[in-house]
Amino acid sequence: MILIDGKKIAAELREELRQEVVELKAKYNKIPGLTVILIGDMAPSQIYVRMKEKAANEVGLKSEVIRYPEAVEEKTVLDKIEELNKDESISGILVQLPLPKHIDKQKVIETILPGKDVDGFHPMNVGNLSSGYESSVPCTPLGCYLMIKKVEPNLSGKKAVMIGRSNLNGKPMAQLLLKENCTVTITHSKTKDLKAECLEADIIVAAVGIPELVKADWVKKDAIIIDVGINKTDNGIVGDVAFEEVSKVARALTPVPGGVGPMTIACLLKNTIESFKRSQK
Ligand code: GUN
Repeated sequence: MILIDGKKIAAELREELRQEVVELKAKYNKIPGLTVILIGDMAPSQIYVRMKEKAANEVGLKSEVIRYPEAVEEKTVLDKIEELNKDESISGILVQLPLPKHIDKQKVIETILPGKDVDGFHPMNVGNLSSGYESSVPCTPLGCYLMIKKVEPNLSGKKAVMIGRSNLNGKPMAQLLLKENCTVTITHSKTKDLKAECLEADIIVAAVGIPELVKADWVKKDAIIIDVGINKTDNGIVGDVAFEEVSKVARALTPVPGGVGPMTIACLLKNTIESFKRSQK
């Protein structure tokens, strides 16, 4: 079984990106900038944002985190985004989710200039991705995709099953795999027989937030399994895949932690650099 070492692949990607930033600096005499907006003091968001900032600094990006209290007015946030849209030194804007209830998430996402939307959540980027045009691609599925490609460069004709249909992962993941000529099934909570769907799959991407949902007898021998889940349980953090038993059946599997997480962050940096390069054209 191949243990897909997301931590290692992400470190390699960051090193490539660090070198690219050096080259871009030499060529344009400026460096890509990433601004993260963090609202409130939810612990997981605080941790994620700190990791994003650290990684951005490591590859040499200009990085800034703007923090607002939970009660910040929506207009304050939207005005700040407008200001960052106009700021030529900023290539990427990310507003950490989830947002407080009084702030309209869709309005926030749509205020970010599509060219600076390093999350790939703007409807323009979502549309471009589904039409097969150049776009920003959401960081989590992009990270999953790069890991799958490391194991299996030729995905043409493979059966891929997404567990979960979110805008953050399931739907964009399906688009990336469709582009690779996979036959893609998107399953969700109303799917009639999830186990039967999974048993057909050469590739499973699990992103539902149910601890150890995917069991060994759900998995075809030699399937590639990507575990996006991060679930807090009495036994610590576990993924959506029963790691021990599935590792005996699968061809390749990502661990939790140390799989998708580090890749998501590295892909945010990649997206920021891509945005910078597009803006220089
Ligand atoms: N919260 C959890 N995942 C994400 C993500 O990929 N982007 C943003 N902006 N917020 C998140």
